[in-house]
Amino acid sequence: MNVVLAGGTGQVGTILDRALTAAGHEVTVLTRHPRRERQTGWDGVTLGPWAEAVDGCDVVINLAGRSVSCRYTPENLRAMMDSRVDSARVVGEAIAAAARPPRVWLQMSTATIYAHRFDAAHDEATGVIGGSETGVPDYWGFSVEIARNWERAQHEAPTPATRKVALRSAMVMSPDPGGVFDALLGLARVGLGGPVAGGAQYVSWIHDEDFVRAVEFLIDRADIDGPVNLATPGPLPQRDFMRTLRAAWGVPVGLPATRWMAELGAFALRSDTELLLKSRRVIPGRLREAGFSFTHPTWESAAADLVQRAPGGLRRPGRATAHGGRR
Ligand SMILES: NC(=O)c1ccc[n+]([C@@H]2O[C@H](COP(=O)([O-])OP(=O)(O)OC[C@H]3O[C@@H](n4cnc5c(N)ncnc54)[C@H](OP(=O)(O)O)[C@@H]3O)[C@@H](O)[C@H]2O)c1
Repeated sequence: MNVVLAGGTGQVGTILDRALTAAGHEVTVLTRHPRRERQTGWDGVTLGPWAEAVDGCDVVINLAGRSVSCRYTPENLRAMMDSRVDSARVVGEAIAAAARPPRVWLQMSTATIYAHRFDAAHDEATGVIGGSETGVPDYWGFSVEIARNWERAQHEAPTPATRKVALRSAMVMSPDPGGVFDALLGLARVGLGGPVAGGAQYVSWIHDEDFVRAVEFLIDRADIDGPVNLATPGPLPQRDFMRTLRAAWGVPVGLPATRWMAELGAFALRSDTELLLKSRRVIPGRLREAGFSFTHPTWESAAADLVQRAPGGLRRPGRATAHGGRR
């Protein structure tokens, strides 16, 4: 297949580029800063010569968006919104203008679209879209608003010959430097991987191999369109999530952090506590109904694998297993 990865230079793009190229597909990456072969320049806002890559390709996957790991200043919030909505809109324009449109457009969205919740898990059919929860900071509604507008930009694009799927993805766990797993493992390794603000908030996640397999599955399944949750069936409370990660690396303790300490840490890291404190309890309703099976359905198995593959994780003497034993 010819695959166009818009915004494909980041964490998720690197995972997909690597896997799809290894599987023998031709991958073209759209980036604002083309540096190497198979990268084409675009601005994520306006149509340009880059649209030729879309005309005649088989699949477009749009991942572009300003990183959400930042201080939520008005300027950053605007950039988070615009980069997602504009890029989805202009990808739609390129597909609409194509003489030979792709058969499918996978548009990144996020599991954060669902409400902060502890009592039950969100699937696509019964899940509650966030934004009107009580007892959470008002500004959390903005992330939901971004996700809604992002999905709407795809939904409203006039591309009748192209199937559209919105990927409501949970955190994609890969051992690559700079990714979310790398950051969490870094905290665990220095003893800071304890519960945050009690740790009851759910963490939804998906192992990188399963993320790639789910994308391939959705490319092949011509009967699936609209929003699809990309998350394993086993979201778990943050305190258990971090305890399992600590056990996988062999770190005996993880200092707990209060909400106040999390605020301070997020400030120091130029990030926001919503990423840590929002309870994301999301499950893969449509993927499971369609017969998709996960290679790493449990965090214990995924964490053990990711730790093995992490830099410095291979054959580390005396490393504890995720079950608490020693290797
Ligand atoms: N990582 C996860 O676990 C996860 C989970 C759920 C949803 N998502 C969403 O999935 C998408 C990809 O995630 P990621 O982790 O790969 O993100 P990332 O590492 O931050 O990469 C996103 C890419 O978007 C492009 N970009 C950034 N600002 C832009 C702007 N103003 N205009 C146009 N393009 C811009 C960048 O490409 P260039 O600088 O090369 O142009 C960058 O490589 C993001 O939208 C993210 O919110 C990620």
